[in-house]
Amino acid sequence: MPNCRLWVAENRTCKDATESAQDQRLAETLLTNRDRDRWNRYRPLEKKRQFLSSRLVIRDVLNCEFGTNSANLFVDTMESGRPMLVDSRGRRVASISLSHTGNMTTIALSDIRYDLGIDIETVQQMNARAFGLSFINRFEYDQLRKEALTEDPNAMLAIWTLKEAFWKALGGPQDTALGDIVIEYRNAILNTDVACMTCKGKPLATQFFGHGYSFPGELRNYSSLNVPESEISAFVGCVVLVDTEAR
Ligand SMILES: CC(C)(COP(=O)(O)OP(=O)(O)OC[C@H]1O[C@@H](n2cnc3c(N)ncnc32)[C@H](O)[C@@H]1OP(=O)(O)O)[C@@H](O)C(=O)NCCC(=O)NCCS
Repeated sequence: MPNCRLWVAENRTCKDATESAQDQRLAETLLTNRDRDRWNRYRPLEKKRQFLSSRLVIRDVLNCEFGTNSANLFVDTMESGRPMLVDSRGRRVASISLSHTGNMTTIALSDIRYDLGIDIETVQQMNARAFGLSFINRFEYDQLRKEALTEDPNAMLAIWTLKEAFWKALGGPQDTALGDIVIEYRNAILNTDVACMTCKGKPLATQFFGHGYSFPGELRNYSSLNVPESEISAFVGCVVLVDTEAR
């Protein structure tokens, strides 16, 4: 994708079902005051852990991307929940988007010219039709059924990640539900169908990524990530880039 960097991290620390003293210590020493407040408020415990490990991973990612300059960079959060990467004077330095699933975090970074959205989901057994009904509209359902996608959990998961990623790229508009984001599967490419949408943004690029994931049929905008160790859970994700200058 143009000017976009993608990171996927897995937290391999074994955790029991209670909050550990180690989490408490890490939060006290490594989180900014604002992030510590958010961390303290988070429920349930899984969300709390995801938030903490994502903030730790972000420090490593910023270090790799910006070297010594990363010490002056911070992820702040807008009122809407949208993350922002800023320097010590509060100036935006790059666009950032995050997503968590299970013990994984994914982070996308790009130039501030672009708005970014990312989503990641662990591959799981589920009732595809029931899941799809929660976010697929009638128009899409008819199109997807012709391609035999509505009964396939992996297809539904990919479509979910695309809608969530696009929603985040738009900044999480309260007046846009996932059912308002219309997708299409054409020429083996899964994308948002901008002609059908009343939303305020056109995606410049949509890219799926994953590991141990298979789409029913060809998916040309999917890349399988080379994960060095095979025990990592199977997952699928999607990054959407919106060009703010083309709005
Ligand atoms: C907010 C929402 C995207 C969170 O999704 P999730 O699967 O629980 O969590 P994810 O890990 O994928 O994403 C969470 C990240 O999204 C980002 N995010 C939250 N609000 C955002 C917004 N308005 N704009 C852009 N990014 C946002 C944050 O970075 C957050 O991580 P953080 O709290 O650690 O900073 C989702 O719950 C939501 O409300 N989507 C709205 C669309 C919709 O109608 N969903 C139906 C849900 S049934």
